[in-house]
Amino acid sequence: MDNKLKVILSREETSARVKELGEMISNDYRKKELVLISVLRGSVFFAVDLSRSLTVPFSIDFISISRYGEKTDSTGVVRITKDLDVNIADKDVLVVEDILDTGLSLSYLLRNLKTRNPKTLKVCTFLNVESRRIVNVPVDYKGFDLPDIFVVGYGLDYNEKYRNLQYVAEYIKD
Ligand code: IMP
Ligand code: MG
Repeated sequence: MDNKLKVILSREETSARVKELGEMISNDYRKKELVLISVLRGSVFFAVDLSRSLTVPFSIDFISISRYGEKTDSTGVVRITKDLDVNIADKDVLVVEDILDTGLSLSYLLRNLKTRNPKTLKVCTFLNVESRRIVNVPVDYKGFDLPDIFVVGYGLDYNEKYRNLQYVAEYIKD
């Protein structure tokens, strides 16, 4: 294996946890009108696996956002580079994220989605890095908590590489 990578979550741990999340969400969204919103591009891998573990009807759509300026810029100026195709008014919306870090992108996205009047709006993130949070965002479902490390795999990239790994690894930069 690439000696820059150190496995943090194996393929087995990852898929077991995704199944558990699917069960929880299926329980909570019985008799609701679930719309999964996958935030491009990282969360696609997680969203597909999660959706396959759901036993309730749902629709899925995609949105793409990009942040202006530096990662450390706390103004949270974000723009939508690809918008949803579906109308989410009166729907039970679940935003699916790969990793929740500073929370800046997601807090902007949630504010924007709220103006479209969904019936409910919740968040499911595969990974959560609490120690890097700048703005508070509610997390309704999470796969794993991580310490402040840079990770790749299962949708997460370093310069667009490693998204296809079926495990999560710490990327050791030199
Ligand atoms: P934030 O929560 O607004 O800081 O944005 C989080 C986004 O930054 C995620 O959706 C990822 O695309 C990216 N990101 C944050 N931490 C990592 C990491 O450890 N590895 C790869 N991408 C990351
Ligand atoms: Mg992302």
